Amino acid sequence: MSRLIIISNRLPFSIDREGDKISVRQSSGGLVSAIKSYFENANDRDKTITEKLWVGVADFPRQDWQAVEQEQNEHEDFKVLPLFAFSDKQLYEDYYNGFSNSVLWPLFHYFSSLAEFKANYFDAYIKVNLFFADQLTPLLHPDDTIWIHDYQLMLLPQLLRGENPELSIGFFLHIPFPSYEIFRLLPTEWKKTLLQGIMGADLIGFHTHDYVQHFIQSVKIVLGVDTYFQNLQYQDRLVKVDLFPIGVDFKKFNSTRNDPTIMRMRDDLKKNFEHKKIVFSVDRLDYTKGLMSRLMAIEYFLNTYPQWRERVVFILNVVPSRDTIKAYDDRKKEIEEKIGTVNGKFSTISWQPIIYRYNHLNFTELMALYHAADAALVTPLRDGMNLVAKEYVATSSEGGVLILSELAGAASELNEALLVNPIDMVDVGGAINRALIMPEAEKRNRITIMQKRLQDYDVVRWVGDFLEQLSIVKREQQKFEVRVVDERIVGMLKDQYEESHKRCLLLDYDGTLAPITRIPSQAIPNKQLIDFLRNLAAEDRNYVTIISGREGDVLEKWFGDLPLTLVAEHGASIKKKGEAWRHEVSVADKWKDQIRPLLKFFVNRCAGSFIEEKRNTIAWHYRNTQGGLGFTRSRELLNNLTQLIQNSPLQVVDGNKVIEVRISGFDKGVAVLKIVNEISPDFTLCIGDDITDEDMFKALEQRTRAYTIKVGYGSTAAKYTIISQAQVLPLLDHLTENAYAGSQI
Ligand code: UDP
Ligand code: G6P
Repeated sequence: MSRLIIISNRLPFSIDREGDKISVRQSSGGLVSAIKSYFENANDRDKTITEKLWVGVADFPRQDWQAVEQEQNEHEDFKVLPLFAFSDKQLYEDYYNGFSNSVLWPLFHYFSSLAEFKANYFDAYIKVNLFFADQLTPLLHPDDTIWIHDYQLMLLPQLLRGENPELSIGFFLHIPFPSYEIFRLLPTEWKKTLLQGIMGADLIGFHTHDYVQHFIQSVKIVLGVDTYFQNLQYQDRLVKVDLFPIGVDFKKFNSTRNDPTIMRMRDDLKKNFEHKKIVFSVDRLDYTKGLMSRLMAIEYFLNTYPQWRERVVFILNVVPSRDTIKAYDDRKKEIEEKIGTVNGKFSTISWQPIIYRYNHLNFTELMALYHAADAALVTPLRDGMNLVAKEYVATSSEGGVLILSELAGAASELNEALLVNPIDMVDVGGAINRALIMPEAEKRNRITIMQKRLQDYDVVRWVGDFLEQLSIVKREQQKFEVRVVDERIVGMLKDQYEESHKRCLLLDYDGTLAPITRIPSQAIPNKQLIDFLRNLAAEDRNYVTIISGREGDVLEKWFGDLPLTLVAEHGASIKKKGEAWRHEVSVADKWKDQIRPLLKFFVNRCAGSFIEEKRNTIAWHYRNTQGGLGFTRSRELLNNLTQLIQNSPLQVVDGNKVIEVRISGFDKGVAVLKIVNEISPDFTLCIGDDITDEDMFKALEQRTRAYTIKVGYGSTAAKYTIISQAQVLPLLDHLTENAYAGSQI
């Protein structure tokens, strides 16, 4: 049971004051619509949530809030905590109009030329995020679930985490996360601070797969974070990034057809435009919404398809937004001029093609419009999702047609809409014509498929899915924390080590004894490591094995004169302490000729990747490739190889940034079992980092006094984990210090 605390810059409602009269209306924008719909619906579904609280900045004076507070708290199922106290108006301006809406908003929507990279904007952004953190921290309990929304509060996850590490923190971005080529335009320090801020969350959500990939790429490049699919290992925490396409309250919209007031208003609207088709659009006044291109497309349409003149009206409702920002105000003038031009050019005495309105719509008006319209023209140049598109589909009872920009996040779910490039007048103009002549059956078919999808993943599912994933991440983190080698475990291992008479130490090389290097041949052991191993192996009771995927020749060159057992190529070759190399594989290596051409083909298709050939294996490495390409290609290669090796004695191993093909029947698990069976130790310590090391961990699972440790995060069969390779030698040094005091690491 926990409290759910929603934090966004914007509160769910705004207060309008006319003289003494105060009226309350819902704030505009998709964020507020979505969360509010969830709160209206979730009342008795969410038994685990004891209380819901929404925190945001009050855009009204404190005395106005007092007048509506009681009513709000009585009528809504959630409490509202408005943050006042921006006595420094300039600070808030620089945060809201400045960094949020004149840097992040334009840049993340690919309008980089409108971004104003001013240092005072960024300072204000930090200060206001800190202000949120200061106000919230004293109110929070460790078992609260915090859900922070949108680009205005990207630093808040980290700020709250710093004060209260236990919190469950989710972050959702309602706008696009741009490709790295755009994100990198931000000054280096800003990029880092923003990403570190978001990474304070446990779960980070985006609307589309592309935004998820863009974010992961930026985090990898800017923060150097290791990723495993959508799991990020950040500092000592697991952070998960995933896709949660926001939904709408399908039932609410779909059932408006039964509301007599809405239907009456729809009929009035239709009557006003009798014998005419209605095409509508509703957007906040925003350059991202593509209003200018839309007007040009309407003009093109009326020129190219003159048969529609006097038979169609375009209702353009623009909702006031951020009008104190120059870029917004400029657009308003331009749009109004263009409307004037188009209407001037095509109007007749009894008809005007564009009906323009600059105001908020209440729910009844909006629904009447959705119902009356024959088509919706939703053509943003970029949009995180676009809820108007989804709401129109959910509402439509008579098979309306949705014309939708392919650059809106919603396009990835609404394939049955007429998808258009919003700046291509020919494309948009043609789609308007197509929508108006579309046969009824086709209209109904398209809308029904989309409605089904929206019904299945509605806003309640969206929230439920996000919160469930958040609690899963928390559980995974706890599992991980329990297993992290801490002082207690080190103490236990040390006691066991000291008490034992025969110790088997099984150590992987790359990523365990030595850090991973960009080129495998560069991972040469330094003198310290060699001395360390020599000392470790010199102790009578110790049986030290280096167990690697590397070739015997390499291990021989590096460690051949140390009193160690060496296992090469995952067990295909073994050299026991003091003996000669024994090669276990009898199959001729002709099979490599079949595999090599395919790997070469992938080297050509993926710059930076390379082939490594060993005695018994052939591998394709992709750790030096750019961004996500290596990973994508590795999935294709895996697929191709799996088919190629069917019915052969080969196996494919999907390793850490490497795909390896080898003779089956040999793995590190088989190799370690041979060794421990021969030695019969009363203490076994096995350390590794890679997927191929999992075979050892599994093989040793049932043995008593066998301790397995995985280096780095990721699901594992090992008993314990340590965070990084840099901790391996200090750990070994600490465990074994009595045996060779004086060795320096
Ligand atoms: N909307 C509103 N008031 C209006 C017109 C529209 O609250 O006068 C709502 C609309 O129903 C939708 C949201 O505002 O839920 C707009 O969300 P969208 O994702 O389309 O765009 P955003 O404004 O978030 O960029
Ligand atoms: C978009 C943003 C929201 C924002 C809304 C309205 O939906 O994603 O974060 O609240 O626009 O903008 P405003 O600046 O008025 O809050």
